[in-house]
Amino acid sequence: MCGIVGYIGSRPVLPVLLDGLSRLEYRGYDSAGVAFMQGDRIRICKKKGRLAQLEQALSEADLGDMPIRAGIGHTRWATHGAPSDENSHPHLSANGRVAVVHNGIIENYIELKRYLCAQGCCFHSETDTEVVAHLVDLHYARDCAGDLMAAVRQTLAELEGSYALGVLCADDPDRFIAARKDSPLVIGLGEDGHFIASDIPALLGQTRRVLIMEDREIAVIEKNQVRLFDALGRPVCREPLEVQWDSAAAEKNGFEHFMMKEIFEEPRAVRDTLTRHIRRGTLELPAIDWPRALRQVCIVACGTAYHAGMVAKTVIEQLCRVPVVVDIASEFRYHDPILDEETMVIIISQSGETLDTLAAMREARRRGGHILAVVNVVGSSIAREADTVLYTAAGPEIAVASTKAYSTQLAAMYLVAFDLARRLNRMSDNQVREQIESLLALPAMLDAVLASQDEIQRFAASHFNAHSIFFMGRGLDYALAMEASLKLKEISYIHSEAYPGGELKHGTIALIEPGTLVVCPLTQPALVDKMISNIREVKARGALILGILTPSCQRAADVCDAVFMLPDVPARLAPVVAVTPTQLLAYYMSLNKGLDVDKPRNLAKSVTVE
Ligand code: M6R
Repeated sequence: MCGIVGYIGSRPVLPVLLDGLSRLEYRGYDSAGVAFMQGDRIRICKKKGRLAQLEQALSEADLGDMPIRAGIGHTRWATHGAPSDENSHPHLSANGRVAVVHNGIIENYIELKRYLCAQGCCFHSETDTEVVAHLVDLHYARDCAGDLMAAVRQTLAELEGSYALGVLCADDPDRFIAARKDSPLVIGLGEDGHFIASDIPALLGQTRRVLIMEDREIAVIEKNQVRLFDALGRPVCREPLEVQWDSAAAEKNGFEHFMMKEIFEEPRAVRDTLTRHIRRGTLELPAIDWPRALRQVCIVACGTAYHAGMVAKTVIEQLCRVPVVVDIASEFRYHDPILDEETMVIIISQSGETLDTLAAMREARRRGGHILAVVNVVGSSIAREADTVLYTAAGPEIAVASTKAYSTQLAAMYLVAFDLARRLNRMSDNQVREQIESLLALPAMLDAVLASQDEIQRFAASHFNAHSIFFMGRGLDYALAMEASLKLKEISYIHSEAYPGGELKHGTIALIEPGTLVVCPLTQPALVDKMISNIREVKARGALILGILTPSCQRAADVCDAVFMLPDVPARLAPVVAVTPTQLLAYYMSLNKGLDVDKPRNLAKSVTVE
């Protein structure tokens, strides 16, 4: 989704902005632009397409010798108006005095635009953002006697919706303004100047000292100081956060794609997530405020995180005998969910900024639920607003397709399940200790899976032309199949569906024809005979079967056309290990098709609009 950067200081401004924008590319975008202070005017350059097109345009522009003092930049993921040079950010006020970059959606932009047109403003784009540039300029000149901060505050009071904003003003060249509401924005504190960015990885090339802006805060960014204010204009004092991630964590480190690098980081990420919360063989989780009379658990998330929630549902229900509902965050608010103070709500999110998930969390709180968030990004909105946070230790995940984040979400959710089972006396301390030992064996098993990745590579090389691929599983294997199918379609653009083994024959089996590939995770010994029957049903219609098997399900190998053997992982923990070959399959399918693995079409990494 859209990304923002800004810099003021003594380093060359354009390279800093372009470096930041390149680190934001992973969020997904279709155009990019920069505005910068040169002399006493704002110059602007923006282009539809990739960052390379913007760099090309800048290299062809006559920039003269005058120093550039400050600038803001943007990668746009189109919402209002098609990708085009005109709709790209930054947007300028009519007189060129004010430039604005924006992430989010201004919901009342049509009324504001009508008002501004009546005031004589001419619009050059179809975006919601352009109203902000005109409004700031109008208030600056008409109502605020040339006080930029006051003009921005007056503008913000008129906006409905979500925003992260960077505002540059030609009359005020020694500072720029940043503001946020429901869209992330962080401030980077450097030795020779200060920065803003939509997320921490964008700053890692410059600094690791950051201030995370809270909702409705406004910041004045100058070369030698940063001032932070709340919505009422009162100064805010906040200690900077020292980010632990280093710059290398957000680089490819010799891998061709971030996705592959991140799959290979799974053993480390799972180990770190577990060891962060295990001390000397026992659980050491942040104090989770489980309701005294726990009636139900409600897990809310989107996409891959939702699929991690599906696995957790089965595990928690089996171990704790407490009902678990798993809700898609974007639906949650609209179906009048049944929650009360006896409900534990678990929010799962890698970024901690997914707007649907954030909004669902707020609704859950309004309805009295206790909130535990399982989040990867420290200091993100969800992490800050939850009652308790359990951090995963995936490190920065850059590829749009989530991989190591899913593995670590599973690892964290096992810990939560064991914690609850222990509290409810459904497991003894010894049983928990045994489960922890099994969990700690997972990283080595992931290493073993990765050591055989060439088997998946070869398989993908002969199946990447498939039109449609089905994933079929039962129990935890069905939950895993859903994630495997999402991964495949999002980066290979191959149509795919995931089905419980017994459900295909109720309609979908009509789509199976000779040669249709059906991928079957087979890790649940108790269900393997039923799965063998389901596999025979699709094979009878000509399907080709790839089985991803644990040794305890070995007998299913006879009905498979190809087999990937997993290590001997306990059935309950199998999704952590079985997902990796399916991620590799999606990766190699995409690679063979010559697609942009890390930045698939139409998708954004951090989905900060509803
Ligand atoms: O940051 P989040 O975990 O909240 O993101 C939720 C989904 O947008 C995300 O998991 C998405 O489905 C993945 N990128 C798919 O690989």
